[in-house]
Amino acid sequence: MTDTSATQPVAFPQDRTCPYQPPAAYDPLRTARPLARVTLFDGRPAWLVTGHAAARRLLADQRLSADRTRDGFPATSARLAAVRGRRTALLGVDDPEHRTQRRMVLPEFTLRRAAALRPHIRRIVDERLDAMIAQGPPADLVTAFALPVPSMVICALLGVPYTDHDFFEEQSRRLVRGASPAQARAARSELEAFLGELIDRKRRSPGEGLLDDLVRERRHEAETGREQLVALALVLLVAGHETTANMISLGTYTLLANPGRLAELRTDPALLPSAVEELLRVLSIADGRGRTATEDIEVDGQTIRAGDGVVFAVSLINRDESVYPDPDALDWHRPARHHVAFGYGVHQCLGQNLARAELEIVLHTLFDRLPTLRLAAPADEIPFKPGDTIQGMLELPVAW
Ligand code: HEM
Repeated sequence: MTDTSATQPVAFPQDRTCPYQPPAAYDPLRTARPLARVTLFDGRPAWLVTGHAAARRLLADQRLSADRTRDGFPATSARLAAVRGRRTALLGVDDPEHRTQRRMVLPEFTLRRAAALRPHIRRIVDERLDAMIAQGPPADLVTAFALPVPSMVICALLGVPYTDHDFFEEQSRRLVRGASPAQARAARSELEAFLGELIDRKRRSPGEGLLDDLVRERRHEAETGREQLVALALVLLVAGHETTANMISLGTYTLLANPGRLAELRTDPALLPSAVEELLRVLSIADGRGRTATEDIEVDGQTIRAGDGVVFAVSLINRDESVYPDPDALDWHRPARHHVAFGYGVHQCLGQNLARAELEIVLHTLFDRLPTLRLAAPADEIPFKPGDTIQGMLELPVAW
C-alpha cells in the first residue's frame, strides 16, 4: 500500500483526454491504492477508492450510505449537488427501504426477462439501422441510433409512450448534464410532472408495461404510493437509456479507434459477450459513484471517519493491475467479468442483464450490417462528454 498522506490531493473528477481512458491527471492515483484523498469541485475533501478488492468490500458495506441528502454526501458536480435535496429512488435509498423498492421491480430485470426481450431488441435495432441507412451516409450515430435504441427498449418495458421521447430525452440530458444546477433542478421537476400525469392516466386505465403492473398492484394506496411510483419511474427511465446510449456511442468509437480488436471480433463473433464485459471495464462510463460513511471504517490501515464522503473511481478500480494486468489494453480474452462498471453490492445495476443484451445485439448487428462503418471526422476532433457526468460521445459522425 502507498502512503497517500504525503501526496497532494488530486481534483476529482476531471475531463478525460482520450474518451475511453481515464484522464492522465489521475495517473498519481493509480499508485495510490486502495484509497486516496481527493478534492471535489466545491473544494471539499473526499476519500477516493481506487483498489479493486477494497472497492468490492466497501460497496457491500452497510456502513456506507447511498442517501444523497446526507450532509457529508460527496456531490461530484454542482449539478448533482443541486438535485440532492430530494431522495432519488433505488440509487439514493438505503436498506430496508431500498430492499422494498428493489423487490417491487426486480422480476422485470432478471436474466430470463432480458433473454425474452432479445427478439424485441433485435427488431428495434434493425428498424433504427434501416432508418439511419435510408438517410445516410453520413449520420450522427448518437442521435440516429445510440440514443433511440435503449430509449425505445426502456419505453416498451415501462409502458412509457415513445412518442414523448424528444421531451424525456432532452430533460434527462439536462438532468444528467445540464448547463447549470438550476437547469438540472428544473429538468427533474419537468420529468416528475410528466411521469405523474402518465401514472394518473394508467391509474384510470392500466395498459401493458412495468409501470402499469405497479399501478395495478398498488391501486389501493393513496398519494404516497403515487409519489413513490413517480420516483421509481424517473430512475428507471433515466438510468435505462442514458447509460446504455453512452456505452453504444463510446463502445462504437472505441472499436473504430482500435481496428485490430474490431477485426478480431468480426472473425470470431463468439467473443462478443466477453468483448462487452471488456468494453464495460475499460470505458467505465459511470465513474465516481458517491457514498457517505455512517461509522468509522478501517481500510488497510487508514480510517474513513463517520460523516466522510467516499467516491468510487470506477475507471481506476477497473484498472487495478493486481486484477487486470496491462489494464489500459483491450483484451477480449481476459476474464473481465468482475469489473465494477455496474457497481457492486445492493445497488449493483438493476438493468445489467438488459444492458448486456442490448450491447451484444447492437454491436453485432451494427458491424454485421455496416461492414465498412468508419468515423466521418478525425478521431481526435469528435467531442465527448465532460468528466463530471456519465462518459460517452456528444456526437459520433460516421459513414459506411
Ligand atoms: C451499460 C449500461 C449501464 C451502466 C454502465 C450502468 C451502471 C450502473 C451503476 C454503476 C450502478 C450503481 C450505482 C451506485 O452504486 O451508486 C447502476 C445502478 C442502477 N442501474 Fe444501471 N447501468 C446501465 C444500464 C442500466 C439500464 C439499462 C437500466 C434499466 C432500467 C439501469 C438501471 C439501474 C438502476 C435502477 C440502478 C439502481 C439500482 C439500485 O440502487 O438498487 N441501468 N447502474
